[in-house]
Amino acid sequence: MITGGTYWRQAMPTDFAVVGDPIGHSWSPRIHAAAYAARGLELRYEAIHVPKEEFAEAMESLIELGVKGVNVTLPLKFEAFAWARFPDEACRQFEAANTLDLVDRRATNTDGQGFLDSLESLGIPQGGRVLLLGAGGTAQALAQVLTTAGFELAIFNRTREKAEQLADRVGAVTLDSPQVANFDLILNTTSAGLSGDSLDIAWGSPRENVLVYDVMYGDDPTPLMREAALAGYRTVDGRHMLVAQAARSFEWWLGSPAPREAMLEAVR
Ligand code: ATR
Repeated sequence: MITGGTYWRQAMPTDFAVVGDPIGHSWSPRIHAAAYAARGLELRYEAIHVPKEEFAEAMESLIELGVKGVNVTLPLKFEAFAWARFPDEACRQFEAANTLDLVDRRATNTDGQGFLDSLESLGIPQGGRVLLLGAGGTAQALAQVLTTAGFELAIFNRTREKAEQLADRVGAVTLDSPQVANFDLILNTTSAGLSGDSLDIAWGSPRENVLVYDVMYGDDPTPLMREAALAGYRTVDGRHMLVAQAARSFEWWLGSPAPREAMLEAVR
């Protein structure tokens, strides 16, 4: 489902919002609306289009409109970090913020902790063995989060040197080919599926409790998830990460536990 966003100069008063460029594809409004409904909160959450070069001006305008906080999607996470007066440790680590409190100009980043929460709720053992597919921007952030949290990481990427550079940086190993045996989690961060390409994985038969997690999401399962599911693997897509970071943002803003099940239900 597409949730259209309003250009910030035309935005109507709201309590919270997600800002991005583009923003039309965001599922955040329905996730947060479901959370408010489940908790009986009369709050509004909108999608607002903010071009990168207008970020600071847009935030001042949203403050005047009475917006209390915003989620920030790509490519504005650095701008959000730089804009904040009080960025916390989680966003200083990546110089990227995905959640702003506009009232006192604090910033945090709930992406990393949200991702770890999603692994826990999906039953991946802490410190488990992870095969990371890809070495781009998303892979770099998740590799850092995973190794810091004590997971054992192996990286496979089409361009080998990028996998090696990333592995050196985070203390992981690299693979020559995507061997999926022996891992608890197979995490796809590549955009291969977007161009209809397959990663040519020899799936074999799954060990018990192995999970194939694709960070992409959409109305249909990704090509990688379809292949893995056909081979008998348990598969999930990026909506688990999306909901988990949204839940952490909800809690950071409102100081009360987020209704995670209701939030996940909103994007099922
Ligand atoms: P993001 O910030 O979303 O991670 P990115 O930095 O452009 O995006 O990274 C894209 C990743 O998908 C890279 O790991 C890329 O592999 P290369 O480093 O070899 O380019 C991977 N990728 C994209 N298209 C692919 C394809 N058709 N087959 C295999 N890997 C692909």
